[in-house]
Amino acid sequence: MSIIIKSPREIALIREAGDILRETLKVLKAHTRPGISTDELGKLAGRYIRSRGAIPSCKGYGGFQGDICVSVNEVLVHGVPSKKVILKEGDIVSYDILVTYKGYTADACRTYGVGEIAPNAQKLIDVTKECFFEAVKLVKPGTHLGDIGERIQTIAESNGYTVTEEFAGHGVGREVHEDPYVFNVGQAGTGAVLKKGMVIAIEPMINEGKVELVTLDDGWTTRSKDGKLTCHYENTVAVTESGYDILTLREGDE
Ligand code: MF3
Ligand code: CO
Repeated sequence: MSIIIKSPREIALIREAGDILRETLKVLKAHTRPGISTDELGKLAGRYIRSRGAIPSCKGYGGFQGDICVSVNEVLVHGVPSKKVILKEGDIVSYDILVTYKGYTADACRTYGVGEIAPNAQKLIDVTKECFFEAVKLVKPGTHLGDIGERIQTIAESNGYTVTEEFAGHGVGREVHEDPYVFNVGQAGTGAVLKKGMVIAIEPMINEGKVELVTLDDGWTTRSKDGKLTCHYENTVAVTESGYDILTLREGDE
């Protein structure tokens, strides 16, 4: 395994991609309402990203058809945008977006409520975010990847949730997926050690119910087998001299 160290210039370029991604999320949030299809949302995001001179890199990745992934309720990841999936009041919807700009990619995901959502749905969103923000606090040179995984797993499981192990975070930069895998489970003190200049996507994927997943006939859309809610939250993070720098989030963002 070789983890690429990025220069300050490369990290600045990933942040430029991250800014376009952040603004795409704002556009999507403004359109997240009952009656809109996930196909419309995906196209809206793709148009916006291209209008900024960037590439929505989910499109064509391993044959993926959408410009971004749009995953509703029990769909955990890789929701293929569809004219048949229409948002309704009380749903939760995640937008997982890859933006490539000047050759560098940023990766982030947010889950939003559609109108009023049930307390259990809000709690799942809150805990998934907490998993990310508690884990990212550990990021600095010398931290083991297992420290991050253990923190996410502990917070999720102490809230009665399960943690998906089939998908993980990853290095990101010139490629969409680089070394290392950043698992959402693990044991502190194990795994690769972070160094200044590494850039990783940390992305907790948390289930309200059982951990088993199934993939739909489209070959991508992956949902909980028991139909219970699932949630995903992700940012691209650079390791700095003494800590971390989140490249897909700025002060005042949600
Ligand atoms: N953000 C997702 C990831 O980290 C991207 C999914 S690739 C796609 O893997 F092809 F499904 F879009
Ligand atoms: Co990712």
